[in-house]
Amino acid sequence: MSLRSTLIASIVMVAVVTLLFGAAISYWSALSKVREEMDAAIAVGSRIAANAVDDAEESLDPSRRLHLLVADFDGDRHLRATWLDSAGRTIAKSTPATSGKSVPEWFQDIIRQPERTVRVKLPTVFDGLGSFVLQTDSRNEIGEVWDQLFNTLAILGLLCSLVLGCVYWLLGRALRPLDRLAESFNQIFKSEDTPRIPETGPAELVKVYRGFNEMAERLSKMEVKNRRLTEQIATVQEEERADLARDLHDEIGPFLFSVDVDAASIARCVDEGKHADIPSRVLTIRESIGHMQRHVKELLGRLRSAALIDVGLVDAIDNLMSFWRNRYPAVSFEVSVPDCSFGEEIDQTIFRIIQESLNNAMRHGNPDKVEVEVVDSPGGISITVRDDGRGLVDANDTPGFGIAGMRERVAGFNGSLEVRQRSDKNGVVVSAWLPLAASLEKESNELDKKRERPVLHEQA
Ligand SMILES: Nc1ncnc2c1ncn2[C@@H]1O[C@H](COP(=O)(O)OP(=O)(O)O)[C@@H](O)[C@H]1O
Ligand SMILES: [Mg+2]
Repeated sequence: MSLRSTLIASIVMVAVVTLLFGAAISYWSALSKVREEMDAAIAVGSRIAANAVDDAEESLDPSRRLHLLVADFDGDRHLRATWLDSAGRTIAKSTPATSGKSVPEWFQDIIRQPERTVRVKLPTVFDGLGSFVLQTDSRNEIGEVWDQLFNTLAILGLLCSLVLGCVYWLLGRALRPLDRLAESFNQIFKSEDTPRIPETGPAELVKVYRGFNEMAERLSKMEVKNRRLTEQIATVQEEERADLARDLHDEIGPFLFSVDVDAASIARCVDEGKHADIPSRVLTIRESIGHMQRHVKELLGRLRSAALIDVGLVDAIDNLMSFWRNRYPAVSFEVSVPDCSFGEEIDQTIFRIIQESLNNAMRHGNPDKVEVEVVDSPGGISITVRDDGRGLVDANDTPGFGIAGMRERVAGFNGSLEVRQRSDKNGVVVSAWLPLAASLEKESNELDKKRERPVLHEQA
């Protein structure tokens, strides 16, 4: 059921209950009014009749006097006067006023009062002329009450209908913007451009519109960010593949070629009977194979560094460092990492922070020295990567996703991350803090037994 129908139904219910209640009160007051009117009429009528007969002059003909008295009550709204002879037969009867209003039978039935009859005591001068009787007739009063009630209920009904009509119209107007809001919500997921709602209209709705627009704004920003992240991941993968292909081509290719050449020369030596040259050729082939083995091992190490579970944090970081050392032999890399595990998730996070910080230092900083330090303290783990490169000074520096990604990872553990300029010299310091939850602390405590002192690797 729509909000509009629910509200209208509630108002109709309240109106009906009010009308019923009003009708009940009107009924009780009408009933007592008719009763009081009849009582008053009979009291007044009796007094009038008694006074009239008491004042009768001796000279006036008593029977004429009674005729006149009956005629006095002609046109009365509530009483009928009757002159009866001693045998109970009607000699004269007044004609009460007729209301001329049509009152429904059912209403007359529920309001009608039992007829009351009063016999007026006649003085002795009227002896032998019979009796004078007054009777109530509530029809005129009922007509009047019906009229009043009808008018009151008609006005109430009109009022209720008007109020209902107004509420219906106003609700329609007030709720129409909600349709617009619902439509905009639908569009968020359907169309490419995030919709915006003009912030106009009633103050309450303007607040909702503003909230919607802010939400839409944030959503579209997040979408853009997501898209760029996906693109970046694809680029990184592409770069990694290209790196691997280049390595295979540049490092393995020449050795394979030299093995091929040496193998051919051995065949030639056999053919030509130069058996003395064969051992030196075999030695060169073995040297080439040794080179290739070392290089394949290094490549595998790089490929496997992501799968930390297999090799452990220290080895994974070692692999990472070897990769950079081989690429930049002139740069000095210092590493200090405790030989333990902090749990798979934390190990992954530590590794990713170091990986991205090293990437940044080498890609953007061109440093002579890079220091990586992981310190396990009672409250948590601190990770620091320090370089002495150009620092964060380039005017072309654009915010990337590497730092944002690190921040998100760290925030997942309620930790903090800071990327700042070095105060002692040029270069950047990345420091992250990961507070240790009780469970992780427990896990690391168990591993404490295996823990060795921090190892320091250095290569100039
Ligand atoms: N160690 C660093 N030395 C110099 N500049 C840095 C360093 N780390 C980050 N930056 C600067 O901060 C920017 C943002 O880094 P990041 O969020 O990782 O994005 P990306 O590496 O994809 O550019 C980099 O483009 C770079 O200009
Ligand atoms: Mg980066």
